[in-house]
Amino acid sequence: MAAPKAKLSNGCEIPMIGLGTWAGWQTQSVQIREAVKTAIDTGYRHIDTAFLYKVEDIVGAGIMDKIQDKTIQREDIFITSKLWQTFMAPEHVKPAFQKTLKDLGLEYLDLYLIHKPIPYKYVEGEMIPKDEDGNVLFNDSIDHADTWREMEKLVEEGLVKTIGISNFNHHQIHHLLDNCSIKPAVNQFEVHPYLTQTKLVEFCQKRDIHVTAFSPFGSPAEYENQPPDPPLLQNPKIKEIGERHQKTIAQVILRYLLQRGISVIPKSANAGRIRQNFQVFDFELTDQEMSDLKALNQNWRVYPFDFDAKSRHYPFFEVYD
Ligand code: A2P
Repeated sequence: MAAPKAKLSNGCEIPMIGLGTWAGWQTQSVQIREAVKTAIDTGYRHIDTAFLYKVEDIVGAGIMDKIQDKTIQREDIFITSKLWQTFMAPEHVKPAFQKTLKDLGLEYLDLYLIHKPIPYKYVEGEMIPKDEDGNVLFNDSIDHADTWREMEKLVEEGLVKTIGISNFNHHQIHHLLDNCSIKPAVNQFEVHPYLTQTKLVEFCQKRDIHVTAFSPFGSPAEYENQPPDPPLLQNPKIKEIGERHQKTIAQVILRYLLQRGISVIPKSANAGRIRQNFQVFDFELTDQEMSDLKALNQNWRVYPFDFDAKSRHYPFFEVYD
C-alpha cells in the first residue's frame, strides 16, 4: 500500500512518511544503505537526509540500487536534504547544494531545507567551527532573507522542486514570508507527544506551510537533553492506547502526528522496525485518544541546541505551547 501524500503550497506532493537517515556521529554506512533499500521495498517513497549526516553518498547508493533493480524510478521518490549552517552566506548556498546533489548522485532534489536558522562562519572542512576557547563561531550578521533568495534561485534553475526551512520559529518565518518571492512550503521541526508544539504547528498550517516532524520517538539513542521518565517509547498511557488498536507505542505516536496533518520521518536501521513504522495507515485514533496524547506534552526537546544559544538567531527562546 502506498503512503498518503500531502499537497504542498506549490502543488508538489510530499509522502506523509519518510525514512530519517541521521545515524549519529558514529555512522554505520552499510546499515544506512540497507535501511534505505528496505524502506523502499516496504513502500516508503520519501527519504530525508542532510549534509550534516555525512551519509548522502550512502543514501544515494541505496536509492540507486533500487532504481537499477527497477523497484522505483527517480520520479517515484521524494528526496529531502538540508543546507548546513556554515553555508548560509549567499555565495556558499549553491556550491553546498551542488555538493549534496553530487554526493546523492541525483540531478534534482524534491525538497531542500535551511537546516537551522543559525548561520555559522564558513571555515573550510569544519562542520561546527569554533574558536580556541571552544566557542562556536556564529555568522550573526546574515539575514535569513539573503540566504532564502539563493534558495529561490535553485528553484528557478530547476535544481530543486520545493524549498523550505527547519527549526525556524514564528518570528523567523514571518520575516521570510515578508521578504520572499517563493514561500517556504515546509517547516521541519521536532514534534512528538512530549513536545506537541501546538502553537507552532497551528501557525504553520494556517499559512499553508506543511509541517514535518523529526525525532517522532524522542530519539532514544541520542539524548542531548535529560530524558523524561518514562521515556516516550515506554509511556504506559501510549501503550494502553496501542493495545486497544493492537499497535505498538511507536505506531501510535506516528499515527498521532499523521492525524494532525504532520508528516513523519522516523529513523531506524532495523528492517523489522522500518516495516513496523510503515503500518500506520490502517487504524484511526479517536478524538479522546488524540487529546490524551496531547495532554502528555512536557515541552521537552531531544535537541535544545544549547551550543547555539548565544546566537542572536537562536530559535527556542520563546515557549510556543
Ligand atoms: P533502531 O534503529 O534500532 O530501530 P527518532 O526517529 O525519534 O529519532 O528515533 C529513532 C530511534 O528509535 C532509533 O534509535 C531506532 O532504533 C528507534 N526505533 C525506530 N523505530 C522503532 C520502533 N518501531 N520501536 C522501537 N524503537 C524504534
